[in-house]
Amino acid sequence: MAILVTGGAGYIGSHTTVELLNEGREVVIIDNFANSKPEVLDKIKEITKKDFKFYQIDYLDKEKLEKVFEENKIEAVMNFAGYKAVGESVKKPLEYYENNISGAIVLLQTMQKYNVKKFIFSSSATVYGEPETIPITENCKTGGTTNPYGTSKLFIEQILQDLYKSDSTWDIAILRYFNPVGAHKSGLIGEEPQGIPNNLMPYIVRVAAGQLEQLSVFGNDYDTHDGTGVRDYIHVVDLAKGHIKALEKLEKEEKGIFVYNLGTGVGYSVLDMVKAFEEATGEKVKYKIDCRRPGDIAICYSNPKKAKQELGWEAQKTLKDMCQDSWRYIQKIKK
Ligand code: WQD
Repeated sequence: MAILVTGGAGYIGSHTTVELLNEGREVVIIDNFANSKPEVLDKIKEITKKDFKFYQIDYLDKEKLEKVFEENKIEAVMNFAGYKAVGESVKKPLEYYENNISGAIVLLQTMQKYNVKKFIFSSSATVYGEPETIPITENCKTGGTTNPYGTSKLFIEQILQDLYKSDSTWDIAILRYFNPVGAHKSGLIGEEPQGIPNNLMPYIVRVAAGQLEQLSVFGNDYDTHDGTGVRDYIHVVDLAKGHIKALEKLEKEEKGIFVYNLGTGVGYSVLDMVKAFEEATGEKVKYKIDCRRPGDIAICYSNPKKAKQELGWEAQKTLKDMCQDSWRYIQKIKK
């Protein structure tokens, strides 16, 4: 029985596919390369020495998606497909709602048709909006999202809750990622956003690599230890392993819908990240203090206790690993 990975050529999807293959799982990937590259598929094979089936399709294309279910015995679906750039989502709300929400609905309808009821959803801490308490637990209030990307995640979570209420034979895990960073230790796969990076770590590594002139620190007047924004950065391989644990839970436990924060439980500021990167790599990161970025919040980090208790999962990798693995990746793709 195969695991269907949508968006499996993307950043989180490719790292999770590596872990699935390492566990001896049969994998089917679908991807339309909207925010990923075909060569990632070869890199996954190079890392794992394993093969998998691949379909270049858009998950919105119901006819093509049904063909995947016709041709493969799918046991469960991990849904990574979706646009994820906060700033871009503000400029293109219709594209984000269509791709992320309609895509998820077409996927879930197709699963229903083929009686595939195990679903793992790539959600985000952004659904908490301005967190009511820190560290954030899963029962913290959600809502108040400040951009269509975050709102699309919130809507899909609501769709999943309503779906489960209508049919409790579904087995659903909603995984709320904090800030994914880093890359596989081989340096063969990593985060390669198209164009100028929106996120902090990809920006830092490109400044260190001389590809960008300097980092703009978006505000140093927040109510944090050094005035700059604090986030819960989690290594993408730890995140990937969290998906394996969630799959194992769906395979052995009673039916249900489960929500987990996937974070380290530790918050680092922007300047902490700059300093950690310089210490971990010996590279200089030029920066200037700039004004705040609209929509940013001061502090966001998780209480990851529930995932530890119920999934037997906790992040293992250090901030040094995150910095060194990110740096190794950019060095490889620069060549
Ligand atoms: C982190 C910190 C910025 C860039 C978003 C989404 C989340 C996830 C990750 C997709 C903040 C500061 C950043 C820069 C800076 N999305 N910063 N200069 O906004 O916490 O989360 O991206 O996977 O769902 O909400 O991440 O990396 O953009 O920002 O000072 O050039 O770094 O202000 O404090 P964010 P980020």
